[in-house]
Amino acid sequence: MNIKFEYNKDLTSLNTFRISAKAAIYAEYKNMDELRSITLSEEFMDNEVFYLGGGSNVLFNGDYHGLVIKSQIKGIKKYQKNEETVFAIAGAAENWADFVKWTIDEGLGGLENLSGIPGSVGASPVQNIGAYGVEVGSMIHKVECFDVITKETVTFTAEQCKFGYRDSFFKNEGKGRYVVLRVSFKLKNSTVAENLDYGPLKTLEEKWNRKPTISEVAEEVLKIRDSKLPDPSKIGSAGSFFKNPVVRIYFYREVMSALSPEIPYYETDDPLYVKIPAGWLIENAGLKGYSVGDAEVYPKQCLVIANKGRATAKDVIEVSEHVRKVVLEKFGVTLHPEVNIVDTNIKVTILGSGTSKGVPEVGCFCPVCRSDSAKDKRTRCSALVETKGLKLLIDVSPDFRQQALRSEITYLDAALITHSHYDHVGGFDDLRPFCTGSKFPVYMRKDVSEDLHRRLDYCFRETPYPGVPSFEVHEIDESPFIIKGVKIIPISVMHGKLPIAGYRIGDFAYVTDAKTIPEEEKEKLKDLDVLVLNGLRFKEHFAHFTVEEALKTIEELKPKRAYLTHFCHEIGRHDDFQSSLPDNVFACYDGLVINTH
Ligand code: EPU
Repeated sequence: MNIKFEYNKDLTSLNTFRISAKAAIYAEYKNMDELRSITLSEEFMDNEVFYLGGGSNVLFNGDYHGLVIKSQIKGIKKYQKNEETVFAIAGAAENWADFVKWTIDEGLGGLENLSGIPGSVGASPVQNIGAYGVEVGSMIHKVECFDVITKETVTFTAEQCKFGYRDSFFKNEGKGRYVVLRVSFKLKNSTVAENLDYGPLKTLEEKWNRKPTISEVAEEVLKIRDSKLPDPSKIGSAGSFFKNPVVRIYFYREVMSALSPEIPYYETDDPLYVKIPAGWLIENAGLKGYSVGDAEVYPKQCLVIANKGRATAKDVIEVSEHVRKVVLEKFGVTLHPEVNIVDTNIKVTILGSGTSKGVPEVGCFCPVCRSDSAKDKRTRCSALVETKGLKLLIDVSPDFRQQALRSEITYLDAALITHSHYDHVGGFDDLRPFCTGSKFPVYMRKDVSEDLHRRLDYCFRETPYPGVPSFEVHEIDESPFIIKGVKIIPISVMHGKLPIAGYRIGDFAYVTDAKTIPEEEKEKLKDLDVLVLNGLRFKEHFAHFTVEEALKTIEELKPKRAYLTHFCHEIGRHDDFQSSLPDNVFACYDGLVINTH
């Protein structure tokens, strides 16, 4: 089958934010056979892949150095199950708002509250779109997908889709493997509207003393949307930029309402948690209309960031970072983007580059420990990895508090731990600012988790002292895992006799405290753009690579660039050491920023 690949494709008109970006390669498919052919192509195998839907919930953060593929699977049909129920089945590329209009014209009830939402049918189950009291998950009967691994179709029931608030199986475990082909909705064979929980819709019922029809509800919803949300034909945006944060009720009562008693909240299915309208927090933090370039906090609905004309992704990200920072400062809550931030670049900040004693060493007066250069002041090792809108911390060094202040880290999505030696986990208690609203996710091997439960038992008690940090511990093994859509590959390396974890994310890998890397694990470290690797000193050490061993490993693994870290003072002054290294090998220092590609 002949698939047409386009190169350097302009994506500006394919995203509702109207942000200018290019895809290195682009292809479309009209049916499953064409999609299968794409997945068998070299273009697919050799590149990172992004599946583009209606483009209404994405922010392209720079050009996409990979393959973007887009569905053109169209078609709508219906069949009657019984007198009350009708199934409507639509192709993934159908326009969502047009499809909802079709259901209303056909006299089928259920989706009317979701009128006017930009985007495609295929994206609706992925992010479980919702508005005015309804989430699409409650109307979904089945989702037919293509499995890019087996190359077969698989059908998921609503239960298997694991719908949550703006969340589903397809955004998590299923990401990158299942491509939505068609969605089947279970609708009511009735024109009487049933979902009237949202205030202004309830008012209609009270005013008319009868239930409104589905087209009356659709009309009202479109009116409300018009009054609050930017008209997609005039102003670029991706709808709500942030999710409404879900926080522990304890935190809401004791901290948030103590700060501002009038903060509204909604109950959730879990009595221990409440949902806070982020738009209210943003507006009441004084950020209405805040702008950078042409990117603006939309004044009529502060949850939206609008592109007033020529905003760049950088402008939008700057606005969103500022909003997150100010809302956190004012209300103690971290906002998380609802928009899918798409990039192939990874930004890594080396927060600390020193070995367990740090440099200068306490009580040492050698020339390195007395050096005036900032590059010779090495705190214990941690790194910050930023990609696809996430901030991931690798290890929580005892110096983490200073590092977070220096690098202005105001939020984190999760931490990945390599092993439980004190110089890599001693800062755990300083993660407190990141677990205020809810438990902070940390990923680690089983032995590390057992160690931490022992050492930090005060964090894991049934009724902990109020204010202690709380963690959601994910025990990992050798299998890759996914954090909010980002795939993490653990690399098992030997720290002397102790097996510990390194991590690969895209074209970047971070391995510290290794003395040997098993052959099968080396396979996972091939074709890297950037490798960060430990190289303690020149003299032999029983548990750490020497500089010579690290350079030999780099020669064998052939990353495009390598960065050495975890140094003791014997490495010498940074600048002298750097000048002794091969062209593609660099010595880390605290605060160093590395960008892939
Ligand atoms: N509010 C403010 N200031 C603002 C915005 C909102 O004070 O600038 C207050 C409102 O007065 C209200 C509360 O916050 O008391 C909630 O506002 P609204 O009903 O507009 O809903 P939302 O929680 O801000 C969510 C969805 C929208 C959806 C609306 C209506 C998310 C992330 N967003 O917004 O979805 O249209 O409810 O149901 O859950 C989207 O996902 O792109 C989207 C637009």
